[in-house]
Amino acid sequence: MSRKTLLRAAVAAGAAVPLLATGSLALARDAVRSSTDRTLPPTPFCDDGDDPTPDQMEGPYFRPNSPLRTDLVTPGTAGTRLTVSGYVFGRNCVPLPGVLLDFWQADNAGAYDMAGYAFRGHQFTDASGGFTLRTIVPGLYPGRTRHIHVKAQAPGEPVLTTQLYFPGEPRNGTDALFDPALLMNVRAVGGGRTATFDFVLDVDGAPGPDPTDPPTDPPSGTWTAGRPYAVGDRVTHGGRSYRCLQAHTSMAGWEPPNVPALWRSEP
Ligand SMILES: [Fe+2]
Repeated sequence: MSRKTLLRAAVAAGAAVPLLATGSLALARDAVRSSTDRTLPPTPFCDDGDDPTPDQMEGPYFRPNSPLRTDLVTPGTAGTRLTVSGYVFGRNCVPLPGVLLDFWQADNAGAYDMAGYAFRGHQFTDASGGFTLRTIVPGLYPGRTRHIHVKAQAPGEPVLTTQLYFPGEPRNGTDALFDPALLMNVRAVGGGRTATFDFVLDVDGAPGPDPTDPPTDPPSGTWTAGRPYAVGDRVTHGGRSYRCLQAHTSMAGWEPPNVPALWRSEP
C-alpha cells in the first residue's frame, strides 16, 4: 500500500492526516499522464510549506452568487460525466474544513452560461477537508485548452482564484495560461472520467496545541501499531524518543521518524 493510499484511507476514516515523509511525491495520485506531460514537475504538495497552489486569472466568465450544490449535472445534460474530488490543505498540511470552493466552467459545447447558473456551483469542504464535484468534461472554446475555473477560500482568508487542467490535451502546449502544477489526475471510468486534485492554500490552518507545552507528561512506552495517540504523547521507537504532533491511530508505515507530521524527535 502506498503512502498516498494510506493518506486517502486515513482521511476517509477521519484520522489525522500525516505529512508525507518525502518531498518528491506528486499530488496527482496514480498519475498516468501523456508523454507530453510526463516530464513536467509534480503538482505542489504541502511538504515544505512554500508551494501553495498557484493562482490564475479569473477570466471574463465568473458570475457571483452561484448555487450551493456539488452536482452540476442536470437531467439531459450533454457531455462526458466527470467527478472531481480531492482535499484542501493549509501549508502545514492540515486539511481545512469549511473551505468555500466555487466552480465554473463551459458546457459541452464550450459556452459559459452568462444568463443563468448552468455549470456553476459552490460548496464547502467537509470535516476532513474533502470535496467532490460532479460535472461534465468542459468543452473547448477558442484560444484556450480544456479547463475548470475555481475560487477557493478558507474561512477569513484571501480568495485563491485558479484553474484546473486536464492531462494529455493537445492545446496544453499552446495555451499561455496552462500550468502543469494545476493538472488534475484524470482517469477514464466506464463512460465517464474521474479526476483528483488537492489544493494547498497559503494559510496556516489549525495545527493544534503546541505539543511541547507542557512537556512533562509521562512517556507512553514503545510505539505500537494500532493504538490511538494524542497530541503530546511520548513514545520510544528504534532507541529514540518522539512526541506526537497530531492525534491519530498508529499504523505500520506511520512509525517515527517516517512521518514528520505525526512525530517529532526529542532529545
Ligand atoms: Fe474559461
